[in-house]
Order: sequence, then structure tokens, then C-alpha cells
Amino acid sequence: MTISDQQRLKIEVAKAAVAEVPAGAILGIGTGSTVDCFIDELAQAKVPLQAAVSSSRRTTERLKALGYPVIGLEGLAGPIDLYIDGADEIDANLCMIKGGGGALTQEKIVASAARRFICIVDASKRVEVLGRFPLPLEVIAAAIAPVTWAVRALGGEPTLRPGVTTDNGHPILDVRGLTIQDPRALETALNQIPGIVTNGIFALRPADLALVASNHGVIRLQHN
Ligand code: 5RP
Repeated sequence: MTISDQQRLKIEVAKAAVAEVPAGAILGIGTGSTVDCFIDELAQAKVPLQAAVSSSRRTTERLKALGYPVIGLEGLAGPIDLYIDGADEIDANLCMIKGGGGALTQEKIVASAARRFICIVDASKRVEVLGRFPLPLEVIAAAIAPVTWAVRALGGEPTLRPGVTTDNGHPILDVRGLTIQDPRALETALNQIPGIVTNGIFALRPADLALVASNHGVIRLQHN
């Protein structure tokens, strides 16, 4: 798939996602190049929102530039209506690896505060087993060494993502060599390791719907 093919599929899936957004919704919005397309299509379709809850500075800037009001979760009395985000990998159960763009902590927070989660991807992101894409871990800097030892014991090899700190000021470790047969179990195990702020497995709260763009159109995969 060429870059321009992939960009065309991102725009197609973004348009399909816009059709899922109820007018006047409180909408959670993820981060990344697919989400950038979604924000642009949302504005082009002039979909009115009550407010947007953003998962990153990058997304906040794009939303504000297009005139959308952005609020924090602390301004809300209850869950948000819908969360829309991309993914680095997604499996048949709509479990995902996320965090390639480094926004995994806020993404997981906003996703978990949403009644409905729609994942938007092109077909290259679909996998049978998660783990070919290096698994991102946002970590406390002082804990890099013990987190590395603990992750090695689970079969992965972490490396520091060079020159990157998250919106929260933390480094990211990317873990290679994992074949994630049981994403919920590994997400739970990583959640127990002191010093990991957030791991990029989204399985305990998978997507409810995936919109997947390929050259044959956009298909819908429902969570069962
Ligand atoms: C950012 C993410 C993104 O959703 C993921 O990296 C996919 O990005 P893109 O749409 O650019 O391929 O998790 O932290």
C-alpha cells in the first residue's frame, strides 16, 4: 500500500466515522493522523458538538483551530457519548495496541469515560494476534530500569523511544518481541508493574465498533 493509498483510506474511514456522530454530542477524540482526517471531515460536514474532550495537545490544537469547544472531563457530570480514535493494531475482538503517537494515557482515560468507542483504521492495522507493532509503555523516568527487567521477564524487549516525552512529561518504552495471545491478561499484568503509567493494550475496554477502510470500501466490525 502506498502512502497516498493509505491517506485516501484514512479520509474514507474518517468520513464514515463522521456519519456515526450524533449532532450535539459530547465527543471524545483520540490522536493521530487518522484522527486528524476525522477532525477535518467533522468540520467540513459542519457537525455541531456540545463539546469535545481531547486526548492530546495535538488534537486540542486542531479542534480549536476549527472552532470546536474543548473541555476537560472534570467539567462533566457523567460519561461522554462517544469516543473516536485510531489504533496501531486491532484484532478480531476489537482489542488494540495504541500509543504509537504517544498519547496512550489520555486516550485510555477518555476511552474509559465513554459509553461507546469507535475505532477507525485502514485495513493494514488488522491483525490476528497483537504484538508485531511495538507495544508502547508510558513510564516514570526513574522506573525505566526496573520496568525493563519486569517486561523482559514477560518476554518483551523494551527500548526507549528517542527524543520523546509525552504530554504528561514522561518517556515511552516500546516493547518488541511480544506475541499477545491474551491481551486482557497482559494488559492486567502490565497494570501491576510499578512505574508503568499506562500500557498501550486496549483490551479491558475494547472498541465497540471498528470501521475498517480498504480498497473494497469501509466495513463495520462489531464487538461481540
Ligand atoms: C496515538 C495512537 C494512534 O491512534 C495510533 O498511533 C494510530 O495513529 P495513526 O492514525 O497516525 O496511524 O494511539 O497515541
